[in-house]
Amino acid sequence: MKKRILVLGGSRQAVTGLEQLKALGLDVVVCDFDPSAPGFRLADHTILASVYHIDDCLPAAVEFHKRHPLDGVMCLACDVPHIVARIASSLGLPGLPHDVADRAVNKMEMKQKFEEGGVSIPRYWATADVASLENILSGDFPDLVVKPVDSRGSKGVSRLSRGGNAVWAFDYAQANSPTGQVMAEEYITGPQVSSESVVIDGQTVTPALSDRSYQFLEKYYPFIVEDGGDMPTCLPPETVANIKALVHQAAASLGVKNGVVKGDIVVRDGKPYVIELAARLSGGYYCTHQIPFSTGVKLVEACAKLALGEKLNPDDWHQKKNTHASTRWKLVEPGLVASVPPLEDVMAVPGVLAFEHWLKVGDVITAAQNAAASVAMVQTEGASQQEARSRAIKALDTFQPDIQPPLT
Ligand SMILES: Nc1ncnc2c1ncn2[C@@H]1O[C@H](COP(=O)(O)OP(=O)(O)O)[C@@H](O)[C@H]1O
Ligand SMILES: [Mg+2]
Repeated sequence: MKKRILVLGGSRQAVTGLEQLKALGLDVVVCDFDPSAPGFRLADHTILASVYHIDDCLPAAVEFHKRHPLDGVMCLACDVPHIVARIASSLGLPGLPHDVADRAVNKMEMKQKFEEGGVSIPRYWATADVASLENILSGDFPDLVVKPVDSRGSKGVSRLSRGGNAVWAFDYAQANSPTGQVMAEEYITGPQVSSESVVIDGQTVTPALSDRSYQFLEKYYPFIVEDGGDMPTCLPPETVANIKALVHQAAASLGVKNGVVKGDIVVRDGKPYVIELAARLSGGYYCTHQIPFSTGVKLVEACAKLALGEKLNPDDWHQKKNTHASTRWKLVEPGLVASVPPLEDVMAVPGVLAFEHWLKVGDVITAAQNAAASVAMVQTEGASQQEARSRAIKALDTFQPDIQPPLT
């Protein structure tokens, strides 16, 4: 009998992950609030409910389970470990304890645990109002990051320099927090790295580290807009070892004993700091594309097997190869999409492994505040980081949609 897995999230970024689950021979149930969610096309069963609202998707999952018993639950391309944990416990399925999952989606609670566990993190403060933000700014910090305590995808996140607009930064963060909570952190300048790991019985295996690309940091200031990443990291082996040890320490402090964790790491003077550790798979075509292309490791499979309660062997999840693989997301100027070019020219660029765009004629593009503003993504390989990266940039340059600037 096929095992049946419930996947929260059927968005465009979930599609390849769903294909990977189907290739494992699983019966796949996709839950999404959007009736036209692309993931529904791959689903054996569908549940129409919002994955961000427990009152909506939990009863729907319980009802579904009565008719078609589920063996596991996970999420893809959405940040809902707390909802996954509650569905799992309600149905008697494996999952994270509620308190562990809850602190993975609350940056203040997460940081408190990191502090208790001695994890190296940027200095941080809860900021109840603009005055407290201004007070911190008067301290000895060249730059702060102001962010919602409980959001994701860099929504509501901005840099604030001394003399900057604290009122705007506070309001922007607050407007993007479901609970209206805002926090600030010391902005750490240095290479930023994404990590992705599988934790098995408290042992953390980190097959994947990617050098994140923030080439437009100045252009989009004060917003922090990532535009891809390069694997493997070019950081020295000693720093790589320190990052892996730090990720393990962070996962243990958070309380994750079995699960996948995705880290945001920043390195200053060779020392890594944890910005956050999500208790789920990555988005941004990282776990589904770049990591398998570069390392041969399928973390979607690891996540599904843990969700189904299967016993994993840590030895199986180390990297199997070390190919230079780059991801880039295309950002464009605001305007109205007048035409979209064919894909053939992009696919003909040497080294292109995958390319997708999600533009339609008539779409209105607004100014970028985070990576969600991207309109296309490419994955490339190369003999070196430099080659993979320049191929990715070339491929995206080849894709030139006609976007009419807004009338002023
Ligand atoms: N203290 C910091 N120092 C440097 N960069 C940071 C810091 N905090 C956040 N950032 C940048 O902003 C991005 C988004 O912030 P993050 O805390 O990860 O929020 P989100 O949950 O929205 O991803 C990070 O990936 C990182 O690039
Ligand atoms: Mg983050």
